[in-house]
Amino acid sequence: MVISCVWDSHSLLKVTGRILCKLGSAPGDSTAQTRRVKELPLKEPDKSLQPRGFLQRPVHHALPPLTPLSVFLSVCPSSTAMAWFLCIFMFLAVGLALMLLQVKLRTSQRGSQELPSLPALPIIGSLLSLRSSQPPHVVFRDLQAKYGQTYSLMMGSHNVIIVNQHSHAKEVLLKKGKIFAGRPRTVTTDVLTRDGKDIAFGDYSPTWRFHRKIVHGALCMFGEGSASIEKIICREAGSLCVILSEAASSGLALDLSPELTRAVTNVICSLCFNSSYRRGDPEFESMLRYSQGIVDTVAKDSLVDIFPWLQVFPSVELRLLKHCVSIRDSLLQKKYDEHKADYSDHVQRDLLDALLRAKRSAENNNTAEIGAESVGLSDDHVLMTVGDIFGAGVETTTTVLKWAVTYLIHHPQVQRRIQEELDSKIGGDRTPQLSDRGSLPYLEATIREVLRIRPVAPLLIPHVALSDTSLGEFTVRKGARVIINLWSLHHDEKEWKNPELFDPGRFLNKEGTGLVIPSPSYLPFGAGVRVCLGEALAKMELFLFLSWILQRFTLTVPAGQPLPSLEGKFGVVLQPARHKVNATPRPGWGGGKAPSC
Ligand code: HEM
Repeated sequence: MVISCVWDSHSLLKVTGRILCKLGSAPGDSTAQTRRVKELPLKEPDKSLQPRGFLQRPVHHALPPLTPLSVFLSVCPSSTAMAWFLCIFMFLAVGLALMLLQVKLRTSQRGSQELPSLPALPIIGSLLSLRSSQPPHVVFRDLQAKYGQTYSLMMGSHNVIIVNQHSHAKEVLLKKGKIFAGRPRTVTTDVLTRDGKDIAFGDYSPTWRFHRKIVHGALCMFGEGSASIEKIICREAGSLCVILSEAASSGLALDLSPELTRAVTNVICSLCFNSSYRRGDPEFESMLRYSQGIVDTVAKDSLVDIFPWLQVFPSVELRLLKHCVSIRDSLLQKKYDEHKADYSDHVQRDLLDALLRAKRSAENNNTAEIGAESVGLSDDHVLMTVGDIFGAGVETTTTVLKWAVTYLIHHPQVQRRIQEELDSKIGGDRTPQLSDRGSLPYLEATIREVLRIRPVAPLLIPHVALSDTSLGEFTVRKGARVIINLWSLHHDEKEWKNPELFDPGRFLNKEGTGLVIPSPSYLPFGAGVRVCLGEALAKMELFLFLSWILQRFTLTVPAGQPLPSLEGKFGVVLQPARHKVNATPRPGWGGGKAPSC
């Protein structure tokens, strides 16, 4: 584009030059003047009047004396010439203005400046500047001090842009969402998703759009307003409370991690396969193991993702990932085969049925709407899409619940205030329902604060620029990977007062009665084309699980134990350290009292 712009200005100058040459033969030019002079009768000059020196040559007395005005008039002796002169002037001025406008437009589309960059060496890229014991989101935030809020670096041979500010984050996600909708292909995500045949890691394409639409439709079917998802979550919240009661009555402290994972897994299982698991079920136990293996190995910029050629060497991480993925795949295949065996066009039990139906409709091309977009749904696509919902839906929600428990243990006054709110708005005769969300603002504000202070996906999922574009005033080239550092956005001191402080009150209005988003620098679910597909479901789960637990129990650290660490372990999500809690039944809730749902 720059070249074409330079060509444009050159050609403009050339054309202008040619026009000027043509105008050279106009009535006011010197040749014409000479011609007219020749036609005048010559008179003998009066030598006495002539000055001595260089002007002592015969002159034509009929010509006016050489003053600046006469020179000007000799160039533009008539009104026609003046008009031409003005024309040229206008032409040049308009041409120049157009040229500047064009350059400005192109500059604003592409950005004129190169991004500040970390030093990079051949092959290893900027790795030397990234060496740190801190997790990547903290390293990327700290590098702002030297390189500014948006900068670039090289991960091996990949150009990566790090965005630490909300205005550029919104440009990537919303304003230019489709341009930045690509996803990078990495070795580990390819293993996980059969080369990107899922939604979260699939590249932006008609197939991807089609999948997302179907899953979105299926989730809406179970979504807010529909009683079934609420019933499923309440059922799981109820059995979680039974487990806490049992532990409390036997005086045991409990690691909530597997219990919360089972509860959330069962919600997703009901959604995807219309099935759920009892505690200790071998299939569930194996699911827990493979999920942890995936979280520990996938998409965390391991060396093999930065340098794909390292695959040729044996890698413990890659072997573990492949093992976990094969267990997951055999489970998914089993569920898929069962669903295919008793599929009916008239009943839609779950997400897998919805995908099967869409696949068959596309194959038969018998639905106008789906037929028009019929881009093919292979078995791999169906399986990976379900696997995706499973992966994205379990680990994220469970992790937020674990962070919420960890922070509530650190801040008993917050826990008390939520319980007071629950007592006054719901009481002890019934359990919380989704319709109570509007009347429990402090609980909702606490959930928001947990999502702010410990975003489970602190770097979102990387985006990729699908064409040459810009970010603010900076040039971005096609193929650049863009990492939105949500950690920086959620801890930006210009946007949040005491960002390290856990303060749910910041999400409440002055009266404490309504919710607010106090800064635009808050994007826990991303935004735009790639916004989290399960946002509504996740919010329902967080609300119902926490309200059910806190209505009945007070959570504390077991006597003699230190408070759990608030530093997370970085993987595909940012996880809190495992720890045990005492769940003490609140007054009136001992003896396993179970209110009606
Ligand atoms: C509190 C829980 C959750 C949080 C904080 C969360 C957050 C996110 C974030 C930050 C992204 C990346 C957005 C981006 O790359 O720009 C994402 C993507 C995604 N999430 Fe969630 N999520 C949660 C729960 C769920 C649930 C329950 C589901 C499924 C039912 C789900 C399904 C997905 C999918 C499929 C994507 C990929 C979207 C795409 O690439 O188009 N998430 N989520």
